Amino acid sequence: MAEDWHIDLSAGRPAAYKELHRSILALIDGEASRVANLANVSAALFSTFGWHWVGFYLVDSEAEELVLGPFQGPVACTRLHMGKGVCAAAWLRQELVNVPDVEAFPGHVACSSLTRSELVIPIVVEGKVAGVLDIDSIEPADFDDADEAGLSAVVRDIESRWSHWK
Ligand code: SME
Repeated sequence: MAEDWHIDLSAGRPAAYKELHRSILALIDGEASRVANLANVSAALFSTFGWHWVGFYLVDSEAEELVLGPFQGPVACTRLHMGKGVCAAAWLRQELVNVPDVEAFPGHVACSSLTRSELVIPIVVEGKVAGVLDIDSIEPADFDDADEAGLSAVVRDIESRWSHWK
């Protein structure tokens, strides 16, 4: 399965998301390890779209921080603090945050100087944020409505399975 991973991007991202969605479900259904599933979703998105960084930060509620989870891409910040940066904004607001120009976002945490735009989607389970999906691109304004919809659908699938994963 893994070595056969290929999503056709020639028809554009909206079409690719339909195929990607089916393939991701096939990848995660039947596996109950949260780490394994988040790792494979990161790899699936990273290898399909070639973004600079794709991964998850998970809420550490005792520390009131986000701690690095499974990801693909360069070494990243291990902990992100409540109140600073794009991931923390998505956590606090409990909503998707699409940043076309990271330098224009007050408090943006630059784990990599190459990042130009960023999209963060919170994973909300039983009304609380359990973590976020974070994607960085080296292209400015790289994320449009199709990305927001396609990636939100993937996050909804993660949310609905989250409590059954260990
Ligand atoms: N830029 C993020 C930090 C995480 S890295 O992009 C991997 C932020 O501002 O929260």
